[in-house]
Amino acid sequence: MGQELGGKRENRRVVERKADHIRICINKDVQARRITTGFEDVFFIHRALPELNLEDIDLSVEVFGHKFSAPIMISSITGGAQEALKINASIAEAVEELGLGMGVGSQRAALENPDLGRTYSIVRKKAPNAFLAANIGAPQITRSYTMRELQKAVEMIEADALIIHLNPLQEAIQPEGEAYYMGVLEKIKEAAESLDVPIIVKETGAGISAEDARKLESVGVAGIDVAGAGGTSWAAVECYRASERGDYFAEHVGREFWDWGIPTVVSIVEVTQSVNISVIASGGVRSGLDIAKAISLGADLSGFALPILEPAVKGSDKVKEKIKMFIQQLRTSMFLVGAGSTKRLRETPLVVLGKTAEWLRLRGFDLESYARRGR
Ligand SMILES: Cc1cc2nc3c(=O)[nH]c(=O)nc-3n(C[C@H](O)[C@H](O)[C@H](O)COP(=O)(O)O)c2cc1C
Repeated sequence: MGQELGGKRENRRVVERKADHIRICINKDVQARRITTGFEDVFFIHRALPELNLEDIDLSVEVFGHKFSAPIMISSITGGAQEALKINASIAEAVEELGLGMGVGSQRAALENPDLGRTYSIVRKKAPNAFLAANIGAPQITRSYTMRELQKAVEMIEADALIIHLNPLQEAIQPEGEAYYMGVLEKIKEAAESLDVPIIVKETGAGISAEDARKLESVGVAGIDVAGAGGTSWAAVECYRASERGDYFAEHVGREFWDWGIPTVVSIVEVTQSVNISVIASGGVRSGLDIAKAISLGADLSGFALPILEPAVKGSDKVKEKIKMFIQQLRTSMFLVGAGSTKRLRETPLVVLGKTAEWLRLRGFDLESYARRGR
């Protein structure tokens, strides 16, 4: 009984924390400040003779055996908290209508309190055909969850894939953090072997290196979402939470890591040049031009969370509006480089300059082959 009460209290804390995250992400500047994604260092070669019509451009892609009408999968945001029902419903309705995909936020809240299940399962009700990914945190699988819980998370939303998210930075600095990563790869392997949906491993804003990408590929993961640095900073979010509580210590530990991580463009190149599994580019993606650059660098899909949060609170029309704008920017980028399909976009030349190029060259990655494409 005592344990049960303790469990309920813990569950309430998880839900309150999610509500804090939403409130802070909407009201504060939670983005990286000194570190940038690197998209500003990537340039396409403009084609004055595109030899195609804007309206004929085909944005569709097939990834994880699913057809997407454009290479977009909305990143995992939420579930559990009261606001989450509306947010998830808005995003699901939009991705269904536009033929895209989405991930839900960590399903821990509902696995520990089944009453909260409907804040997640609403996505399948609103999106019977869209690509939907379940979501669980790595610390939960290393410490407490068995494959049964992972299967339950998948069934809860009739998911097409399971995302296991990696957030060592956030766990290390939030006071309730569970910085338990010992044995994580073995657990990911077990999940990849036992579940019948593809496993996607995703960071949450600090990026994935070539070294980790190779390890993930070796244990049977089907996709990697790089979620690199330059967009939402979880150190920033936790810093604001600590400051609200008057917790000087946690606030200052968090502040030091505000700009921590592998910039998104660096991470896309590190991962796509190191493994042969599907790659989702995310973390600070803020326009359709960013998406075009990500796909041209080798990603299969692109995702974003923060730009969708506020529209999602308002309703699915606002979410659709935002996504349609990104799609039109992507289409325009493709027109201007003469790429009539996403396949052609991957064969389009681009140059990587500045600190992003310097970082990648020092790490031994090849940038010349992007620049020489098609010559
Ligand atoms: C309010 C909020 C809640 C989030 N919750 C989760 C989560 O539960 N699971 C997860 O994998 N990522 C979560 N994320 C991280 C995003 O999926 C994404 O990786 C990160 O925000 C970087 O992308 P962005 O710069 O486009 O926001 C959350 C992001 C936001 C803004």
